[in-house]
Amino acid sequence: MHTKSTKKERLKGFFFDLQVQRMRKSWSRFALGIMFLPLIYVVLLQSDAYNLNSWKLQIAQWIGSSDASNMLLLQKLAAGTNKRELYQNGATCISYPDSDVCVATGEVRFDTKTSTFHLTAGQRLHHSPTSVKPYTRKKDNITMSWISEVKLQESSAAAQPCQFNHTSPAMVFATSGFAGNFYHDMNDILLPLFMTAGHFRSQVHLVVVNIRDPWVLKYRKILSHISRHPLIVSPPRHWRGGEREVHCFPGAVVGLKYYDNLVCNASDVPDGHSIVDFKKFIHESFSLDFSRTTPTTQRPSLVLISRARTRVLLNEEEIVGVAEEVGFRVTVANRTTTSDVERFAEMVNACEVLVGAHGAGLTNFLFLAREAVLVQVVPWGLDWASETYYGGPSQRMGVKYVEYKTEVDESSLYGEYPMDDPVIADPLAIHKMGYQVSRKIFIDGQNVTVNLSRFRETLVKVFRMVRPEIL
Ligand SMILES: *[C@@H]1O[C@H](CO)[C@@H](O)[C@H](O)[C@H]1NC(C)=O
Ligand SMILES: *[C@@H]1O[C@H](CO)[C@@H](O)[C@H](O)[C@H]1NC(C)=O
Ligand SMILES: *[C@@H]1O[C@H](CO)[C@@H](O)[C@H](O)[C@H]1NC(C)=O
Ligand SMILES: *[C@@H]1O[C@H](CO)[C@@H](O)[C@H](O)[C@H]1NC(C)=O
Ligand SMILES: *[C@@H]1O[C@H](CO)[C@@H](O)[C@H](O)[C@H]1NC(C)=O
Ligand SMILES: *[C@@H]1O[C@H](CO)[C@@H](O)[C@H](O)[C@H]1NC(C)=O
Repeated sequence: MHTKSTKKERLKGFFFDLQVQRMRKSWSRFALGIMFLPLIYVVLLQSDAYNLNSWKLQIAQWIGSSDASNMLLLQKLAAGTNKRELYQNGATCISYPDSDVCVATGEVRFDTKTSTFHLTAGQRLHHSPTSVKPYTRKKDNITMSWISEVKLQESSAAAQPCQFNHTSPAMVFATSGFAGNFYHDMNDILLPLFMTAGHFRSQVHLVVVNIRDPWVLKYRKILSHISRHPLIVSPPRHWRGGEREVHCFPGAVVGLKYYDNLVCNASDVPDGHSIVDFKKFIHESFSLDFSRTTPTTQRPSLVLISRARTRVLLNEEEIVGVAEEVGFRVTVANRTTTSDVERFAEMVNACEVLVGAHGAGLTNFLFLAREAVLVQVVPWGLDWASETYYGGPSQRMGVKYVEYKTEVDESSLYGEYPMDDPVIADPLAIHKMGYQVSRKIFIDGQNVTVNLSRFRETLVKVFRMVRPEIL
């Protein structure tokens, strides 16, 4: 645990670093920009800026971060009747199955104390005020009850004098709900941020409600890639005075887009990003080499994600022994190792095989290099979850995926329940009783002792995948 003051220092450092980075970058950008201006125009005419594979080239800057381009970028977030409404009224709220997203163009003034966007340019809302919870689990009332409401309301400018004038729009997100679980951090917050804000090319101000300081610190590299500006915290922090601040923006987005578990819809607004683009974006954030192919001169390296409480691989030591016999160099990553996301991202990016039992740690497959393999140990009764959360998504992102599906006698549930109990005989029947029931049994209530001879076969197969020339 950190004391309050050191946490404070670190956060201040974070905000300060961002400022310095910005100053340094603006000079080099200026020089680069002059040199490449003609080239940039040629490229702009011919292709999507993203193909330059350099998020931070900030082409938006050269076509001007003017009100007109802000408006265009905001309008990209709406389609159909919402788009018409946004043209006519300067504001619209889009209802997705899992989230609500309100978009306003033209001047808005944000009061950090009340988390309210005052629409001061004559924008009209269906209902004023309108409240939005900026999180992606709309159907889950309990989780949503932890998220603060952000209001939008029609107001007159006079009542809200600007203390800070910004030239890019605001975008609001929350670090509550399932935040803190690595899968959910990526799926519920960072991917939605990427899908909603990506086309702004980091010319957007992030406003965070329900801030969790460790979360913001952990993902600072990703956040500063989504937005080049310091975070705006609402309500304001006590150590910064806790006073109301009024920030003025040329538009705002409240709430994040979301489709499905680690899914992007490339044919949808705003910018046709695919989930592979998200993986690239994550690699860029951590300065990982996205297209690196793995070296073949050494023994292939394997990282085993160790779990300590649930879905524990009880014979982990023997598993390591088998993997070494097969020919891998093995590193075991425990909770301490994986929690340092910046270091662990590099470790995973450098390895050729990532192995673990079903669980949030497997989300680290996002950092794998192009030719690498993910091996998921699927505990008893978790076939659907394993495929939905890791198997499917990793393959959609171009990762090679291998499943080790356990038999019932490899689970600690075997022996705990009679053979004719549905837990053993018919897991589907348990799932039909609802998540609260199945979670206790399959997610939280079992450990795994893998059959070493069967696991060896899986590892041999994986070895052939990464070293086809040897075997
Ligand atoms: C969640 O809340 C909405 C609106 O308050 C209500 O209609 C719905 O029935 C609730 N769902 C559950 C599962 O409680
Ligand atoms: C912000 O801009 C408004 C005019 O748009 C101006 O009146 C105000 O003084 C500016 N505030 C700051 C802090 O620059
Ligand atoms: C993807 O977006 C398109 C365009 O909005 C829509 O027609 C389609 O139904 C969406 N697909 C999914 C799976 O949501
Ligand atoms: C995690 O692994 C590191 C390095 O191998 C070790 O120093 C540390 O004690 C381990 N922590 C736990 C909780 O097992
Ligand atoms: C799984 O293993 C962990 C660590 O040994 C232990 O604390 C936990 O109680 C075990 N769970 C079950 C269901 O056996
Ligand atoms: C492990 O799997 C092999 C092959 O499926 C099987 O023959 C063997 O009996 C299993 N061992 C144990 C201890 O269950």
